[in-house]
Amino acid sequence: MLIRPRRARTTPAMRRLTRELEVRPSQLILPAFVRDGLTEPVDIPSMPGVQQHSLDSLAALASAVADAGLGGIMLFGVPDEADKDATGSCGIRADGILNRGLARVRAEVGDATVVMADTCLDEFTDHGHCGVLTSDGRIDNDATVERYVQMAVSQADAGAHVVGPSGMMDGQVAAIRAGLDDAGHTDVSILAYSAKYASAFFGPFRDAVGSSLQGDRRTYQQDPANRREGVRETELDIAEGADTVMVKPAGYYLDVLADVAALSPVPVAAYQVSGEYAMIEAAAERGWVDRERIIAESLTSIVRAGADMVLTYWALSAPAYLAASYE
Ligand code: PBG
Repeated sequence: MLIRPRRARTTPAMRRLTRELEVRPSQLILPAFVRDGLTEPVDIPSMPGVQQHSLDSLAALASAVADAGLGGIMLFGVPDEADKDATGSCGIRADGILNRGLARVRAEVGDATVVMADTCLDEFTDHGHCGVLTSDGRIDNDATVERYVQMAVSQADAGAHVVGPSGMMDGQVAAIRAGLDDAGHTDVSILAYSAKYASAFFGPFRDAVGSSLQGDRRTYQQDPANRREGVRETELDIAEGADTVMVKPAGYYLDVLADVAALSPVPVAAYQVSGEYAMIEAAAERGWVDRERIIAESLTSIVRAGADMVLTYWALSAPAYLAASYE
């Protein structure tokens, strides 16, 4: 036999030498929830190990992210039910919970890690959609984009290094870039949720933010059947000035991720979403899978498919599991 690929696997040292990638902590971004009015963090039942944070516990979490050398923290706001309205105003006001959380986190970490904000209205609207509605109940794309511009500028004002438009409205990246520049925020970066699918894997997230969604998001998020369309959406975002493009969900969309990584001249992110997290935690709780190994493998697979960075709810614990998986 001339060719014996197993020679590369004979010893731990040989495997280390021939390993094609290792996921670095600096590639991981922690999504975090800050909820108005809390004094103590509150557990999220469908995401064991993840909490809604008070401003104080959020600040402590952000400093742990910086100390661990992670790539960044992505903030989501959970407002009081009474503050929600048709246009998501409390997502834009400087005293809204997300902007207060951003200011607090930025004051805590400075430039030691990257502070990111989800730029989307769904947590803040009383109907739960990512945009504003027309009088007959459809999503008004262009009016929504105007709200996103105001929201992105308010987030940059609050201290975000990166804004993350996730509403899948046409033209959102170009409009936000122009709005940020007009406001003097030329250094604030755009992480565009470019190929974002209408996914059942977002289920636990809706609990996490207390979403009031009526209906579904299929007129703006993509059909899971569409691979080419993910590439097209990404190309448009790059042309509109996205600094980073993202595929979401991650683990079940590795084909889209690989396509995007092959064409993108800008860094590529992937979001390992709430349902991907919850399924592994649930199976591990039953003893059906090896939790730490499966977490490491899931992240390795996402990076192998082409992600330069990964948003994951395991960002703080994963570096230890990854290191163990390389032994
Ligand atoms: C929109 C947004 C969602 C998620 C991130 N940003 C929800 C949605 O589009 O329905 C989902 C993240 C997750 O499931 O972990 N603000």
